[in-house]
Amino acid sequence: MIIKFLRQQFVLLLTGVFLVSVLFACQRVPIADSPTPTATPTATPATEATLANTLFPPVAYPDRELSASPAQLPKLPFAYDALEKAIDAETMKLHHDRHHATYVENLNEALQKHPELQNRSVEAMLRDLNSIPEDIRETVRNNGGGHLNHTIFWQIMSPNGGGEPTGEIAQQINQTFGSFDAFRKQFNEEGEDRFGSGWVWLVRNEQGQLQIATTPNQDSPIMDGLYPIMGNDVWEHAYYLRYQNRRAEYLNNWWNVVNWSEINRRLQAVSQQQG
Ligand SMILES: [Fe+2]
Repeated sequence: MIIKFLRQQFVLLLTGVFLVSVLFACQRVPIADSPTPTATPTATPATEATLANTLFPPVAYPDRELSASPAQLPKLPFAYDALEKAIDAETMKLHHDRHHATYVENLNEALQKHPELQNRSVEAMLRDLNSIPEDIRETVRNNGGGHLNHTIFWQIMSPNGGGEPTGEIAQQINQTFGSFDAFRKQFNEEGEDRFGSGWVWLVRNEQGQLQIATTPNQDSPIMDGLYPIMGNDVWEHAYYLRYQNRRAEYLNNWWNVVNWSEINRRLQAVSQQQG
């Protein structure tokens, strides 16, 4: 009698264990072992222009991009004759008051045909030229680029400039090019070889590497996703009065007025933004 009772209890225990195991397995399988449902993408992919804007800090100034409502000629941060170590006063006056001023005037005149564009910065237009109406696209490219390039150019020169680079830019130049002399030599050669009118640049690419680049006419490096750290104008209007056709001599003397502290600021700004 006792044995029969124990046998019944044992069978009930086994049945209970079995049922609990089945219930446990049924609950776990659909949750833990089911494949994770694929998330439905809901975010709109960033356009190229939007992405570029998030990668770059302001290009023209430390705190803002260049306004086009309307574009305005910036004041020179020094006197016309302040850069005599490299550039004569008459050239500076013509370069700033006539050439740069004309880019600003032409840009504003073109944008009057499409006033909706005046809400966009000059940099935003240059990064996305295909979005600019075709009838003014080349004008915006040439004159918006000219306005941006010269705005940077005045800032990266100083009567107190010249000499060896300092700070982070000095370290990165040494790491990338071997030495400042090697960098300067390559920069000058590429500036000299830029056929016709254009610019020679030290830029930072999207991988965070420094490289030397040249652009024709008034094209900006930002059109190619490159951030301009520093650049020299090799149009004849930048040097012809003093140097005539001796572009190499102008390129060589230009280092006497290079503003390394501003160049370090530009490098720091883009490094913080891009990582
Ligand atoms: Fe120029």
